[in-house]
Amino acid sequence: MADSDSLVALITGAASGMGLALAKDLLAKNWRVALLDISQAGPSIASELGPSAVYFHSDVSSWESQAAAFGGAFKTWGRIDFVALNAGIDDKEDFFGPTADADGNPVKPNLKTVDVNLVAVFYGIRLATHYFRKNEGRGGKIVLTSSDAGLYALVGVPQYTACKHGLVGITRSMAPILAKEKITINAVLPAFVPTGLAPPGLIDAWPKEHITPMSTVLKAFNMFVDNDEMTGETGECSLDTVYLRKQPEYANESQRWGREEGGKVWALVYPG
Ligand SMILES: NC(=O)c1ccc[n+]([C@@H]2O[C@H](COP(=O)([O-])OP(=O)(O)OC[C@H]3O[C@@H](n4cnc5c(N)ncnc54)[C@H](O)[C@@H]3O)[C@@H](O)[C@H]2O)c1
Repeated sequence: MADSDSLVALITGAASGMGLALAKDLLAKNWRVALLDISQAGPSIASELGPSAVYFHSDVSSWESQAAAFGGAFKTWGRIDFVALNAGIDDKEDFFGPTADADGNPVKPNLKTVDVNLVAVFYGIRLATHYFRKNEGRGGKIVLTSSDAGLYALVGVPQYTACKHGLVGITRSMAPILAKEKITINAVLPAFVPTGLAPPGLIDAWPKEHITPMSTVLKAFNMFVDNDEMTGETGECSLDTVYLRKQPEYANESQRWGREEGGKVWALVYPG
């Protein structure tokens, strides 16, 4: 990548927690940062961060809203080099609650979590790819904020668990294709970090020795931002260590064939 004082990052969910910590870390290294969020605090946070930060009020689960913010960031600085698709929420309804409305008809589930944690990430990758293609062949970097719930189910939180598993799948599925355009895609998978995401009471109840510091998450982000080659990696962040996790071992030789030699057959019908 070019000198860091000319680089531009776009971060979703940047007004709090991990997104804000990442924004501050990059600004300290002379990046310019576009912060996207739905928080009312966004504008004042960005102005406190100084002239290299700009805030876009954007609900990333809306294509129009997220696309407008990407467009605004590109218009402001004329380039986007790194995109952190980090916004996330936990499940907004008890999936196992009442299934019938007042008339006895089945109630449609509220899938807002899927819209924010998964659909919005597809939107963000499409937008990142679009703007990276304007970088005269230099490509760009994408980091998704998955979770340790992308590896180990969080019981009773099915939408969150499905989406975070989904981001691991996206990372591994897209990396070889995006690499052809010098675009890297990796995921950070934090364990429990005390942020605004934690429901009331959880932080107090969580034993201190099992808290992962923000510094470990930043270590994972930096590993992916600073490396031009590393792609398709999933960095589980627990306590002070980032573990690069691999896909599960093949169950048998046939399954290995299906993904390795069989790749030539898949390529007949899918981009390969
Ligand atoms: N805190 C943890 O323990 C933990 C662990 C693993 C993964 N994560 C993931 O880390 C990411 C960041 O979460 P955090 O812990 O910093 O929580 P946070 O609540 O502090 O920050 C999330 C931010 O996303 C924003 N946001 C929510 N919905 C949005 C939308 N529709 N459009 C734009 N912005 C939106 C919120 O306003 C908030 O500022 C999330 O994807 C979360 O799932 C968190």
